Amino acid sequence: MSARNIDYNDKFLSAFLSPSELESYNPAVAQAEKLLVSRTGAGNDFLGWLDLPAKTSRDLVKSITDKAGEIRDSIKDKDGVLISIGIGGSYLGAKAAVEFCSPSFEELRKPRVLFAGHTINSDYLADMLELVKDREVAVNVISKSGTTTEPAIAFRIVREWMEKRYGREGAAKRIVATTDRAKGALRKLAKEEGYTAFEIPDDVGGRFSVLTPVGLFPLAVAGLDIAKLLEGAAGAAAFCTGESVEKNLAGRYAAVRNILFRKGYTTEVMATFQPQLHFVNEWWKQLSGESEGKNGTGIMPAGLDYTTDLHSLGQWMQEGLRNVFETFMLLKKTAKTMAVPKFADDSDDLNYLAGRSFEDINEKAFQGTILAHLDGGVPAAVLMLADRSETTLGQLFFFFEKAVALSGYMLRVNPFDQPGVEAYKKNMFALLGKAGFEKQAQALSARTKDISI
Ligand code: PA5
Repeated sequence: MSARNIDYNDKFLSAFLSPSELESYNPAVAQAEKLLVSRTGAGNDFLGWLDLPAKTSRDLVKSITDKAGEIRDSIKDKDGVLISIGIGGSYLGAKAAVEFCSPSFEELRKPRVLFAGHTINSDYLADMLELVKDREVAVNVISKSGTTTEPAIAFRIVREWMEKRYGREGAAKRIVATTDRAKGALRKLAKEEGYTAFEIPDDVGGRFSVLTPVGLFPLAVAGLDIAKLLEGAAGAAAFCTGESVEKNLAGRYAAVRNILFRKGYTTEVMATFQPQLHFVNEWWKQLSGESEGKNGTGIMPAGLDYTTDLHSLGQWMQEGLRNVFETFMLLKKTAKTMAVPKFADDSDDLNYLAGRSFEDINEKAFQGTILAHLDGGVPAAVLMLADRSETTLGQLFFFFEKAVALSGYMLRVNPFDQPGVEAYKKNMFALLGKAGFEKQAQALSARTKDISI
């Protein structure tokens, strides 16, 4: 079992939330935990993610790493790339993990993973194909439903390109599909074309799927240790279980969020001080927003990258509307350390910082910021991550998943559905002329006149 690599510290909240108030939330934590563990709460047919850390079989991990090894071999020359195609839960987890664990610049990653299908944009796709034109390329197309428009149309472009480049059979050897066991157009296509295909379990929703082949396969190709990621998540299950805020770290964080929400702090800003955490934030925003934002309630998740954003939204955070609370997600240890050099002439007046590491300076920036924001009326807590390892990230993924599930139950919503996501899709299908949406198309046509791009 791995050591505990993440910690949540709410002691700075005392002016906003007393220890007794937090303790008084124990029954709510216990109730949410019971609903989850007994699998009797809303959305209980989507709780497969709870078992993934402990129950993912060695055989599955081996088949993912074996196939990833094969794909790595096929793209090892000429600065090869994997194009990972997906959106939402079929994109953000892998993107977050690659950014968290890999060198800061894509150019330094071998192989590189490029992401597509998460936007509808010709320039992006055309530039990507220009970038890879002289490189070896493999593709992982990921869609649970197998029918999501954004990745499906991106895959058409990439598939056509791959078939021109490698021939139909050659392309099929370099394309891996990750999709539902039986349903959807992608499963059918994978079968027809002979793509290797990994399954997304029926009982795991998109935003909870990073520890299924959805995240594990592209991460294994990127060179991450997926066994460590799963081991980390299993470790977190141990300290994110229990019916009180003392025992259950995820329950504690969920309780703090709910108490603050009820006091009118309706937006949570997840603030980072290291750029490698930017996409962890993006993943968390989807996890939290899609799970809780329904029935007219839900904490609005927002993300800020400090110190960058202290020079843009810092003013708002310090003196704007007091409806936000802040969780500082910090890395205790970076992979490398640089210190400010000493200059004999001190012409820029910086010798007072000579010899001090960037991390030391960043820490003072963090301390200055949290104290200023507390003084400015922003409740703030700290989520500390030990390092940029797969173990730490696995713990963090599970901590957030568990916390969001508990928090959703405390808010009395079903944290595992996303009915609201369908509204734009239905409109889009109607406007695109998809069969079956004719009535809706008629109703919308007059309304679209003045809203074209
Ligand atoms: O969490 C979710 O369910 C969504 O964000 C989906 O992951 C996203 O819409 C992509 O869906 P699919 O994997 O079916 O293409």
